[in-house]
Amino acid sequence: MSRRVLITGGAGFIGSHTCIVLLEAGYDLLVLDNFSNSSPEALARVASLADVPLDGQQLQIKRGDIRDPITLDELFSAAAASGRPFEAVIHFAGLKAVGESVEKPLFYWDVNVAGSRTLLAAMDAHACRTLVFSSSATVYGYPETVPILESAPIQPINPYGFSKAAVEQMLADLNSGTPNTWRIASLRYFNPVGAHPSGQIGEDPLGIPNNLFPFVSQVAVGRRAQLRVFGSDWPTHDGTGVRDYVHVMDLAEGHKAALETLLSQGPQHLTCNLGSGDGASVLDVVNAFSAASGQGIPYALVDRRPGDAAVTIADPSRAADILQWRTKRTLTDICRDGWAWQRANPMGYRQSE
Ligand code: NAD
Ligand code: WQD
Repeated sequence: MSRRVLITGGAGFIGSHTCIVLLEAGYDLLVLDNFSNSSPEALARVASLADVPLDGQQLQIKRGDIRDPITLDELFSAAAASGRPFEAVIHFAGLKAVGESVEKPLFYWDVNVAGSRTLLAAMDAHACRTLVFSSSATVYGYPETVPILESAPIQPINPYGFSKAAVEQMLADLNSGTPNTWRIASLRYFNPVGAHPSGQIGEDPLGIPNNLFPFVSQVAVGRRAQLRVFGSDWPTHDGTGVRDYVHVMDLAEGHKAALETLLSQGPQHLTCNLGSGDGASVLDVVNAFSAASGQGIPYALVDRRPGDAAVTIADPSRAADILQWRTKRTLTDICRDGWAWQRANPMGYRQSE
C-alpha cells in the first residue's frame, strides 16, 4: 500500500513541485491549503502532470487553515479511520515576505509560529511524529562566513527570519523534551527559483514581486518595464549581490530525500541546508535569463536594499552526506524552465493582475 503524507501549503510554489515528485514516486498525498497565496489551479495541473485524478485517492485536497485545530483533528481522525493514516507531514504552509513581516509581525508569528505549534500538537495527539519543515537560510541573517555551514550562528534580522528560527527552536525543544519520539528534518532553503520543465506550474507571486527571479521573468515577458538592481558596490565579482539559486525541482527532490531518510532512520532532528554551493550575482541572473529567453532585460543600478547581505552561499555537504542529495540543475536550466513557465503563463494562474 502507498505511503500517505499530509502536505500543508502544497498548492504553493515549492509545495506544488514537491507534490509532483512525490506522486511520481508513488506516495498518496493530502494537501491542506487555505489558498491565501496560491491557486487551486496549481493542483489541477499537478494532478494532470502526475497523471492522477484530481482529488482522488492519490491527491486529495482540503481547503483549510493550519491554525484551525478542529480541521487538523478531523483530517488526522478521518485518515486513521480510513485505515490510511498519515505517515508523515511536509509542512510548507506559511508566510514568506520579508517586508510584510516587518509591517505585520503578529500575522507572521500567528501563521508561521502559532500555526506550526497547532500542527505539531495535532500530529502529537494522533501519533504522527515525522515532519519535514520548510525553514530558510534567512535564519543566518548576515552570515559571518560563506559558504554557510549549518553550525553558523542563528541571527535573524527580520520578523520572518525570527519566525523560522522560532519554529526550529520549537522542534529542537520537542526533540530534546521527548527523546526517541520525533523524526524531524528542518530544511534551510537558499534561493528557490525556476519551474517545472513542462512550463505548466511555477512561481506566481501576487502583485509586484519582491524577489529577483520572478521580477526578471516578468520584465522578460513584458509585464514590468525594468529591473532595479539593488546595489552595484557590493564586494562581489561585479558589484551586485550574490546568492545560491536552487532549481525548485532540485528542492522538491530534496524533500523526497529528507522524507525517505527520516522514514528509514530512527528518531532525530536533522537540520540541513538545501543549496547548490555555487553563487550567482544579480547580473549573472539577468544575463542567463536574457540568453535563455532571447529577451532583453532592461535594468537600472540603484541603491542597496536595506537588510540585504552581499553574499549568501550554502555549504551543501551535510545534505550530500546524510540525505544523499545534491543539486543537479544549473542556472541555465533554471532560466530555461523559468522562462517556459513565464512565457506560457504571463499572468501566472490568473487571467489578469
Ligand atoms: P508559497 O506562498 O507559494 O506557498 C505557501 C502555501 O501555504 C501557499 O499555498 C499558501 O496558500 C499556503 N498557506 C499560507 N498560510 C496558510 C495557512 N494558514 N493555512 C494553510 N495554508 C496556508 O511559498 P513557497 O515559496 O512555496 O514557500 C513554502 C515554504 O517554504 C514557506 O514556509 C516559506 O517560508 C519557505 N521558504 C520559502 C523560500 C522561498 O524563497 N520561496 C525560501 C525559504 C523558505
Ligand atoms: C536576491 C538578490 C537583491 C530584487 C529572499 C528572502 C529569504 C528567502 C529567499 C524565504 C539580492 C537582488 C532583488 C530586485 C535586485 N525567502 N534584487 N532587484 O533577498 O536573497 O532572499 O528570498 O525564506 O528569506 O530574504 O532574495 O530574490 O529578494 O534577492 O537587485 O528587484 O537580488 O538585492 O542581492 P533574498 P531576492
